[in-house]
Amino acid sequence: MVDLSTRYLGLTLANPLVASASPLNGSPNTARAVEDAGAAALVLPSLFEEEIGDSTYAGVGNNYLDRLETIKSQASVPIIASVNAGSPGTWARYARWLTDAGADAIELNLYRVAADPSRSAADIEADDLETIAAVRSEVDLPLSVKLSPYYSALANFAARAVEAGADGLVLFNRFYQPDIDVETGAVVPRVELSQNWELRLPLRWLAILRPQLGANASLAATSGISSGADVVKALMVGADVAMMTSALLRHGPTHLHNVEGELRRWLHQHNYASLDEVRGSASQATAQDPTAFERANYLVELQSWAPHRR
Ligand SMILES: Cc1cc2nc3c(=O)[nH]c(=O)nc-3n(C[C@H](O)[C@H](O)[C@H](O)COP(=O)(O)O)c2cc1C
Repeated sequence: MVDLSTRYLGLTLANPLVASASPLNGSPNTARAVEDAGAAALVLPSLFEEEIGDSTYAGVGNNYLDRLETIKSQASVPIIASVNAGSPGTWARYARWLTDAGADAIELNLYRVAADPSRSAADIEADDLETIAAVRSEVDLPLSVKLSPYYSALANFAARAVEAGADGLVLFNRFYQPDIDVETGAVVPRVELSQNWELRLPLRWLAILRPQLGANASLAATSGISSGADVVKALMVGADVAMMTSALLRHGPTHLHNVEGELRRWLHQHNYASLDEVRGSASQATAQDPTAFERANYLVELQSWAPHRR
């Protein structure tokens, strides 16, 4: 029997399949279905900084705390509460209230669009680090930070996020991209479900960051994961867990059963007894061609699209 157990943020999980933040995990009924289908941990949808504000009483926030309490009381897997932050602020105290409501860990989702030309990358990163440190100082719980891929020096920022108090990094959040209605000129908000190829971006960065961060940080892969093979890839580049949302919204929570079955079969067929034997086997420190995660092969790939001469 293959041992699927894994450690994430200091928590022991029965398997590496985590249901990432989405409305599925925000209501007690669907959260239970996700757990029953095999998720080893659930991340609640984010409580947005804008919903909390600076007040000491926020109706929306309290509603979130109530749902967290209910979901936690019925769950036997760890429940991770999520806060979506765009700036440092007094809202960070909410992280403590999430602890009191029973969260097993906090995921801090750093989500911003760096559109202010007067603010440099260094200014923005300093704000983000201040936010991480503020939440860290509010809670003793494990703290993960969900990053976007849009930092200009991601490896440097990732290391500083860990220094500021993150126990783990979640790579990557997917910004919603607005569309335009050509008839009305209106900006149309669209949240599209992911496609499988979107896993490539976190794969690259997990492979690079795993050896750099070593045992100092847990790593979670999120974007484009929908099969056992995708989970294997995430493990190979060094992820501790593989998170899923789009696949569960598309196929329903029971899809987790299929993914777990595929993962078990792959491990069995390749004679692995545990995830530790696979983890990191294709990171930048161990891959046959470590440069493949950076610029290598790029030119060859581009040239392969040249039109063929007749
Ligand atoms: C409908 C929907 C709602 C989401 N809500 C949140 C959220 O509240 N907080 C968050 O950090 N991520 C949120 N996400 C992002 C997912 O947690 C996940 O990181 C992303 O969709 C990539 O994973 P996937 O390819 O498995 O969907 C949401 C995604 C979708 C599709």
